[in-house]
Amino acid sequence: MARQILITSALPNANGPIHLGHMLEQIQTDIWARFQRMRGHQALYVCADDTHGTATMIRAEQEGIQPETLVEQMRALHVADSEGFLIAHDNYHSTHSPENKHFSELIFQRLQQAGLIFTQEVEQLYDSEKALFLADRFVIGGCPKCGAEGQYGDNCEVCGATYAATELRDPRSIYSGVEPELRASEHFFFDLSKYTNFLRSWTHSGTVQPEVANKLSEWLEDGLKAWDISRDAPYFGFTIPNAEDKYFYVWMDAPIGYMASFKNLCDGVGQDSIDFDAFWQAGSPCEVHHFIGKDIVNFHALFWPAVLDGAGFRTPTRIHTHGFVTVDGTKMSKSRGTFILAKTYLDHLNPEYLRYYYATKLSNGVDDLDINLEDFVARVNSDLVGKVVNIASRTAGFLVKRFDGTLHDTIHDAALMQRFTDQVEPLAALFESGEFSRAVREITGLADAANQYIAKHEPWNMIKDASQQDAVQQVCSQGINMFRALMVFLKPILPATAERTEAFLNIPPLQWADAMTPLRDHKINAFKPMLQRIESSAVEAMVAASVQTPEESAAKPESEATPQYIDIDDFNKVALRVARITEAKEVSGADKLLQLTLDVGDHERQVFSGIKQAYATEDLVGRLTVVVANLAPRKMRFGLSEGMVLAAGPGGEDIFLLAPDSGAQPGMAVK
Ligand code: MSP
Ligand code: ZN
Repeated sequence: MARQILITSALPNANGPIHLGHMLEQIQTDIWARFQRMRGHQALYVCADDTHGTATMIRAEQEGIQPETLVEQMRALHVADSEGFLIAHDNYHSTHSPENKHFSELIFQRLQQAGLIFTQEVEQLYDSEKALFLADRFVIGGCPKCGAEGQYGDNCEVCGATYAATELRDPRSIYSGVEPELRASEHFFFDLSKYTNFLRSWTHSGTVQPEVANKLSEWLEDGLKAWDISRDAPYFGFTIPNAEDKYFYVWMDAPIGYMASFKNLCDGVGQDSIDFDAFWQAGSPCEVHHFIGKDIVNFHALFWPAVLDGAGFRTPTRIHTHGFVTVDGTKMSKSRGTFILAKTYLDHLNPEYLRYYYATKLSNGVDDLDINLEDFVARVNSDLVGKVVNIASRTAGFLVKRFDGTLHDTIHDAALMQRFTDQVEPLAALFESGEFSRAVREITGLADAANQYIAKHEPWNMIKDASQQDAVQQVCSQGINMFRALMVFLKPILPATAERTEAFLNIPPLQWADAMTPLRDHKINAFKPMLQRIESSAVEAMVAASVQTPEESAAKPESEATPQYIDIDDFNKVALRVARITEAKEVSGADKLLQLTLDVGDHERQVFSGIKQAYATEDLVGRLTVVVANLAPRKMRFGLSEGMVLAAGPGGEDIFLLAPDSGAQPGMAVK
């Protein structure tokens, strides 16, 4: 029976570009959705931008534009990135939309009618200079437990304590640096405590992975507290009906954005073909699947099902939670060039490489997932191009040249072909449960068997023997059929290569069940290369393009405002020394960088510095400057950079090196 499945990825924040971490989720979701469609189910994949909240408001203010303009610009960028990665959304909407406003108000009113909303005075920190209430993350100060400086208002990164922002010692607003004051205001609460029992059983009914259920049990054990769903003006969001200057908290209307995007899809295609209510009414037999990262589990597996149930809607069928992407074993880092934006990746590499690589890593678990750039190149080149695509390139030529492109009508090695058909259902089960890495391992195992078969029969030798011509056609036909079965299994992961395969094989779009029935007596087209190997230089260029110089990071603040203060201990970590520039060279291929050799007193080092537009090389030699001597060496595309030269100015031609008085000597510490 065909299932009706609504599928979502978490809605990316509209206050910044998307990176390879976000793409993991969209690729995971897209593979699952494409797989369901190949099985003949109705699988509708919707997403949207998550637009509301203080962060959007502040970022728009920094850029001097209206938040509406910012969210429109971001949405266009996000859509382009998703398309670049071949993500087949049925709709990509926005939470700043009429549909979302409608459903947010409707749900709120229904919750009110059900007696699940109450109001209460809340005392909160307030930035009187910026005239806004401060979320916990926007206040920094000393940890009330261990005293560590520069901690955020929700927890201490040094001792791990959690506390209220009001408990911080010497608290400061991240925006203005002023000491926040306490102000009372009335807030709306959703009475989540009434849902503790409901959620205890809901989270243990197969809706979330076991390790997620265990994590949620920790919260549920103590009983749930009411959830504050309102924010005071100024805020970018929807106003709460019949309340003064109150807005829905962004996490209230964000998941409702899933419904809004779906509603917008239903309205767009015409009411008859997809029925909104059939999917969302209580007790609906249609399925709703959310794919999310582990950081937002409580919003999706506690608040969201409770809100839906309270408002008389159905609850999600399943929440699929994944871990976080790391690169080369550590958190993505801007200075190391491993904070890779979706756009930067697409400027250098084919999206299917990453889709494939992520598939080799994804399971049904929530462990973090590491991109190792060497392994990435190796997996794609040796397994995907070297094993799978190779099967077609080794066999198609003979068929086209000698047999008019016609496949034989007998199956040469039926037992081997059976191994492929036997995998049709087990592989489907692996895709269904999100075990993509195990599926890929099975598929590469089959590709190995196919390659061994071809190597054993050596069609390139058989072809020289006139009596073996029919056998050559049979062996090569089997090669093509095995390749076709592999491409059925890989199609959810590699939609573009699958499309090229369909053109090459001269067949309609592959469905999952096609792997059961090999092609016989069928005419194929000439083989054209389907997927090239990755050039390591393209990966290096992507990393080089991702390295953010400190000036660039300062010019483009992160979505979450960065604290304005470092404490004296942080400052003391920076070793500043006087250096003499002994050599300055142009760097071929770089328009900003110069390669400098610095005498720092007891030794020389090489530093790349972005001052080319301001200084000619000959003017630099002999000059004194200040250098950050203990900056970790950084591998750049052009070589190793061992430190950083300090200069003043906004950039470009206006950069001014410090020229300490002649009394300064290379190697001197700067205080
Ligand atoms: N706007 C919220 C989601 C609202 S859903 C109703 C949000 N946005 S986000 O842009 O911060 O993240 C979007 C998704 O990307 C989340 O599921 C998040 O877990 C995921 N990821 C963000 N960075 C990630 C990695 N480094 N690795 C894997 N996934 C990551 O949260
Ligand atoms: Zn602490």
